[in-house]
Amino acid sequence: MLTIKTNYSLKAHNSFGLDVKARYFVEYETAEDLAEFLSSSGTLELSNFGTLELFHIGSGSDLLFTKDFDGYILHSAVKGIEKLDEREGRVLLRVGAAENWDEFVAWTIAHGYYGLENLSLIPSEVGAAAVQNIGAYGAEAKDFIVSVDCVDMHTGQPVRHTNGECGFSYRRSNYKEQWCGQFAITHVIFSLPTEFEPNIRYKGLSDLPTDGLTAQDVRNKVIELRRSKLPEPSQLGNAGSFFLNPIITAEHFDSLLQQYPDIPHYPAAGNTLSSMVKVSAAWLIEKAGWKGRSLGRAGVYHNQPLVLVNLGGATPDEIVALAAAIVKDVEQMFGIALKPEVIYLE
Ligand code: EPU
Repeated sequence: MLTIKTNYSLKAHNSFGLDVKARYFVEYETAEDLAEFLSSSGTLELSNFGTLELFHIGSGSDLLFTKDFDGYILHSAVKGIEKLDEREGRVLLRVGAAENWDEFVAWTIAHGYYGLENLSLIPSEVGAAAVQNIGAYGAEAKDFIVSVDCVDMHTGQPVRHTNGECGFSYRRSNYKEQWCGQFAITHVIFSLPTEFEPNIRYKGLSDLPTDGLTAQDVRNKVIELRRSKLPEPSQLGNAGSFFLNPIITAEHFDSLLQQYPDIPHYPAAGNTLSSMVKVSAAWLIEKAGWKGRSLGRAGVYHNQPLVLVNLGGATPDEIVALAAAIVKDVEQMFGIALKPEVIYLE
């Protein structure tokens, strides 16, 4: 089924809770419905499709609408979890893009499929998890994705991309960058181990007792950690980490280390061989004096300065102004240009 709404408020579709409107909001339940919409058949509303902008959203938890959207916002309503195969200690699952991420994680643990427990409680949908290559507590979605099923938005044809073709890296995929706007994800295919192997190297998890540890224990701990640090979007609008942790050259890092010996840092590619260094954006923002501060109705969260929040009734401009002020100060102090993790919709 295809549903089209006009002059539609996106407040419930962006976790910042910004009251922006889309000229059209289009929801589809199957790849065929989407192809039908794209070929503009049968719907008089679509007669001017092609001259209007089109953007596909997921859960809206990594988006910043900077103004009303004068075009088509597409949203998937493709649901379902299908078991394709199970053998040699792994299960293959094909999951609809609109499935709620955390409900899917809970479902996998309940069915004896593991690996996603470290990614518990991330506000996302399954399709968006692939676009963003969501990550937390030492795990990334890309490590469990085998392939991604899409509809080519230019032809309406189904396409399958292998993991390698998706160009996954830290919070990034080709869907977010060079393919932006070209493909709509309908399903993600995951391969998960059927034996639980704890991944608890990340600080905060490493003190869990290993004896008799279950995936549910890890999930509970991750949920506890997230709740202690991150605001709940339904209570305080936010898009999780607003900025990426910046990756800088070893030379730049060495010069910063002279002045700031306590700067938190990690090898950029998750391995000690990389010459690039990832530094903590939260720390940079705190040192630049922004932790807990606000500009208008946009604020920097008191527990995790990487998270910008809507203090209530903020406009897009207020969030944009706060982010710009932080970027300017961090750049001035450390010579580091913070890059947003959220996608700005201009
Ligand atoms: N820190 C401060 N001040 C603070 C909070 C943190 O200086 O008030 C410093 C501390 O040194 C701390 C370090 O920042 O050790 C890292 O903090 P944290 O463990 O919270 O992780 P993060 O690097 O700030 C990243 C992800 C989060 C993810 C956590 C846990 C990015 C951009 N963010 O945050 O992802 O949940 O690690 O794995 O990589 C998201 O992407 O939306 C998100 C929330």
